[in-house]
Amino acid sequence: MIEQTLVLIKPDGVERALVGEVLTRLERVGLKIVGMKMVLVDKNFARRHYAAHVEKGFYKGLEKFITSGPIVAIVLEGLHAVEQVRKIVGGTEPRTALPGTIRGDYAHHSYEYTDKKGIAIKNLVHASGSKKEAEEEITLWFSEKEIHSYQTVHEKHTF
Ligand code: PPS
Repeated sequence: MIEQTLVLIKPDGVERALVGEVLTRLERVGLKIVGMKMVLVDKNFARRHYAAHVEKGFYKGLEKFITSGPIVAIVLEGLHAVEQVRKIVGGTEPRTALPGTIRGDYAHHSYEYTDKKGIAIKNLVHASGSKKEAEEEITLWFSEKEIHSYQTVHEKHTF
């Protein structure tokens, strides 16, 4: 049940100074940060991360966006971490993401607008969609040495 998942605070989140806010929301439920770094990715790396989307019409805009500035990459650990993080992050499109979620509270882009403009949807964060995806993404973004093991007070009080 204890899983690890990948969260990326994308260039819009970093440039809007929302790193602290995003981390607060993820940490306060009891999820543990076990890896974190700031990275500027190139086109080649972007294609590896978004391999499932490279053939899609929106990919060019997505690549331009994700390589446009530094990203904060985080590995979070906790019970059902993949599902928990996706719940906190909210739906992909900020326009329809529920209030109370990160995307619903801090962004408002719509597919209607971005598709017309030929740009990526600015939705602040990426979160792994499944356990398998999380494992693959963590391996892509982090070396084993960059993932840490320690006990938080939440663990001491939950188990
Ligand atoms: S899909 O196509 O059903 O698998 O869509 P999804 O799972 O939501 O992932 C799509 C990722 O591409 C990013 N992106 C866009 N999607 C659709 N339309 C546009 N215009 C677009 N621009 C960018 C979207 O944010 C998803 O990436 P992440 O990093 O997970 O947010």
